Amino acid sequence: MSTTKDGRRQFASDNYAGICPEAWQAIARANTGHVLSYGEDPWTARAADLLRDLFETDCEVFFVFNGTAATSLALASMCQSYHSIVCSETAHVETDECGAPEFFSNGTKVLTVAGKEGKVDPAAVDWAVRRRTDIHYPKPRVVSLTQATELGTVYTPDELKAIWARAKSHDLRIHMDGARFANAVASLACTPKEITWQAGVDVLCFGGTKNGMAVGEAVVFFDRNLAREFDFRCKQAGQLSSKMRFLAAPWVGMLEDGAWLRHARHANDMAELLHGLVAAVPGVEVRYPRQANSVFLGIPPAARDALHARGWHFYDFIGWGGARLMCSWDTTEEDVRSFARDLAEASATAAP
Ligand SMILES: Cc1ncc(COP(=O)(O)O)c(C=O)c1O
Repeated sequence: MSTTKDGRRQFASDNYAGICPEAWQAIARANTGHVLSYGEDPWTARAADLLRDLFETDCEVFFVFNGTAATSLALASMCQSYHSIVCSETAHVETDECGAPEFFSNGTKVLTVAGKEGKVDPAAVDWAVRRRTDIHYPKPRVVSLTQATELGTVYTPDELKAIWARAKSHDLRIHMDGARFANAVASLACTPKEITWQAGVDVLCFGGTKNGMAVGEAVVFFDRNLAREFDFRCKQAGQLSSKMRFLAAPWVGMLEDGAWLRHARHANDMAELLHGLVAAVPGVEVRYPRQANSVFLGIPPAARDALHARGWHFYDFIGWGGARLMCSWDTTEEDVRSFARDLAEASATAAP
């Protein structure tokens, strides 16, 4: 299924949701008069300043169109082509970017390592580095962590610091794929700096799209040296927006009044409600801890098919299978209750 027939809000992806009012209104506010192009405008400067305020440090900021580009270009700026990137076997970098990180870095290899619940195990970082140190092996250079993970779990500051300690001992840098960074901050109730530069993150790709924007991710360099000529890298990759103000303005709208965190908290709360309603449904199994805006369920195939027949969309190929139910900034309690009711009925009907 590729379209929602009745236009109802779905749980397939936070990408299904529209644009939140704060982002939408900011685009409208930016749509007056002429301003300089290619990021020389006041909206881009303001958005970058707001991100520096948010992270409480003098980071270097760039805005690109999507997460694949943000992550791939960030990783390319951290590696040489003969290096490798250590990440979880469920990392988007490995499974869902069509080889873009390797492509944009001219061949840097992605090395997957084991870990629980979508996370990288600190010991696995050692393993990836030590298992081969000869000239024939692509030298590990970066650890890439997804926060919140593809399985909806969240690295705590202590977990990040444990990985950082291993990374530092091997002279590895840390990249964070923060497509759902806002959900992680909301889940941990921490400050953004605690799970980024204070935990060793060198470069963060901060996701705007899943947070409620139409398009756009911020690439935030805490190690400013890594940002050298990143603007050229963006331009070459077709990621330098000529009318940059429209990529930047939504960040201003979202950051100025805290909408980024409010929407993430709401999405997480809806996932928590969903988790509470479905966890006890007979035949349904919760796969991973509910920590961000998703719930992963094992659902009997007959119940899954019945839910699809009732018009519900959800993916069942992410991670190690199971239905991924993703809440968004605009998910309502009624949406959640309606899905949970249908799941209970479908499971009862499907029971042997
Ligand atoms: C964890 C993660 N990283 C990166 C991306 C890529 O984002 P985009 O589809 O905007 O390229 C996604 C998109 O689903 C994602 O879930």
